[in-house]
Amino acid sequence: MKTEKFDAIVLSSLSEKEGFRTLTGMLKETPLPDDELLANLGLYLTSKNLSRLLFFYEIYKKIVHTHGIIVEFGVRWGQTLSVLSALRGIFEPFNRHRKIVGFDTFEGFKGMGKEDGEACRCRDGSFNVTPAYEDYLSSILTIQEALNPISHLKKYELVKGDAVETVPSYFKSHPETIISLAVFDFDIYKPTRAALESVKPHLCKGSILVFDELCDDVFPGETVALKETFGLNNLRIQRMPMTARISYVEVE
Ligand SMILES: C[S@@+](CC[C@H](N)C(=O)[O-])C[C@H]1O[C@@H](n2cnc3c(N)ncnc32)[C@H](O)[C@@H]1O
Repeated sequence: MKTEKFDAIVLSSLSEKEGFRTLTGMLKETPLPDDELLANLGLYLTSKNLSRLLFFYEIYKKIVHTHGIIVEFGVRWGQTLSVLSALRGIFEPFNRHRKIVGFDTFEGFKGMGKEDGEACRCRDGSFNVTPAYEDYLSSILTIQEALNPISHLKKYELVKGDAVETVPSYFKSHPETIISLAVFDFDIYKPTRAALESVKPHLCKGSILVFDELCDDVFPGETVALKETFGLNNLRIQRMPMTARISYVEVE
């Protein structure tokens, strides 16, 4: 159920894991030449991994006609941020207002509490990344921007630290913020609750909230945080057919 190095949860079966291991080995020893590798990365995509990308493609299409920034709460290795940046490059390369802001400790979970239950068998520090990973990710996001127009304007920001402090402080120093898309993926209660409370004044009709763990018994804290801040009764919690776990709410 856990990855070997960083205490992350994987629900794959043994045979799936075996398949993933084989594909990973094949990627590491790829016969593809360097100058064709990136263009052919889909060769190694599984349906599960592709499904998440397709979800964000569909979500991005929904925000193209709304004004505001994108925030991700819980970045980890940053694939979602990078994909969102690529989608911005495809759909609205000149929208300098579509800032993408990611919050993470870059040191794993912080603030596990009783609302998070026991099922995930996590602790503070689970889902860690490698040292100074935020610098590596920042370089990738800079290249993503450089490959698209108006790259002289930096349109991403990584905010490192405990979200219980960094998120309220970010919005305090950016009172102009309108949120077009917020992705909640801290997994656990305390930072999720802090983020939900902070985004409230910055939402408008059409803003989209994406959740990675609603109704998930392994990580109950995310649902508890949403119940306590917005309540469930007024929300239309929707999903898409290609992914089981991710859901979204369109503010009405
Ligand atoms: C499941 S991962 C996020 C995955 C990412 N959204 C993606 O698409 O690949 C959860 C992240 O939440 C972060 N996190 C948990 N508690 C936090 C806190 N109190 N403050 C900031 N980040 C936190 C962890 O460091 C971890 O990187």
